[in-house]
Amino acid sequence: MHTITQNINNAIQFLKKGKLVAIPTETVYGLAANGTDEHAIKKIFTAKNRPTNNPLILHFASLEAVLPYVAEFPEQALKLAKAFWPGPLTLLLPKSDNVPESITAGSLRVAVRVPDHPVTQKLLSQLDFPLAAPSANPSGYISPTLPEHVEKQLGDKVAMILDGGPCNQGIESTILGWDTSEKPVIYRQGTITPQDIENVLGRWPKIVAKKQKKIETPGMLSTHYAPKTPTLITNNIEASVKRHPQKMLGVITLMPHKQLPNTAKQTYLSKSGDLTEVAKNLYYTMHIMDAQNLELIIIERAPNEGVGMAINDRLERAASYKEDNL
Ligand code: TXA
Ligand code: MG
Repeated sequence: MHTITQNINNAIQFLKKGKLVAIPTETVYGLAANGTDEHAIKKIFTAKNRPTNNPLILHFASLEAVLPYVAEFPEQALKLAKAFWPGPLTLLLPKSDNVPESITAGSLRVAVRVPDHPVTQKLLSQLDFPLAAPSANPSGYISPTLPEHVEKQLGDKVAMILDGGPCNQGIESTILGWDTSEKPVIYRQGTITPQDIENVLGRWPKIVAKKQKKIETPGMLSTHYAPKTPTLITNNIEASVKRHPQKMLGVITLMPHKQLPNTAKQTYLSKSGDLTEVAKNLYYTMHIMDAQNLELIIIERAPNEGVGMAINDRLERAASYKEDNL
């Protein structure tokens, strides 16, 4: 049997037996297991080489299916769920006793979401348990947006990869919770923007970025959310290319750009500069660039507005260097 297949029935059988199955979502591919089975959950951490203190998101077919797994569904959360589910929004809610310890890593809040992908919707609706699923990449590497990315990175660790084609959002879901005074807080930015949240709740959310790694000094590549090739982000692509003439360069611009000197590979993320399209193509393009044996990848920053904020957050994490204000 091929690892990449569209056979939902096989996926159901594997998941019921406690095996790992990679699943498509609208954001990125997930590495899924039965979210109520401690033994199956443990396999996720092992396969990804993920620290067990990093909690997992539970995925459900519908809002109703979430209810047994939360102690309460506060009004603001309900408004957001009704506005954005199924969709790329993960909510942090008080957990119920049905959620295993290993899912939340000891936290009293559980991360829940209803993904918007027809294949995974069909799968979830035929299971009587939620799916625990982090992004299907080895810890520290770029998330997969195609079944082939999963196969390359974790193919020997999964029973199968459920083929749902390319992910149409392309970056991970927005994660939102509330602080002790019930103010909404975005813990991870995504294609559902602070403006989208304000439109529903009538208040602008606080944005709390998880502590980002420091950009290392040259030569010291850090590896969180990152390609293996050293990666530089810049707001002045021409100046940065000029500064690295001796390197085998790969260049990724937001929009089509005239041929730059000395680049081994040059590409762009969106014909029109549409930020939703930039997000969709970002990891896909980074995966391609990372396979070219380049010495340095230079990526252009997005305007820091709307979905651009989430894009820049991911670039920041992928980068080993940055050059701004050149
Ligand atoms: O789009 C997505 O969210 C994808 C798809 C597969 O659904 N999943 C994903 O999962 O990105 P993962 O594990 O790669 O990232 C989830 C993030 C992690 O940073 C984790 O620390 C955080 O969510 N998280 C999960 N549960 C949490 C909790 N109870 N409290 C705080 N943060 C939590
Ligand atoms: Mg991840």
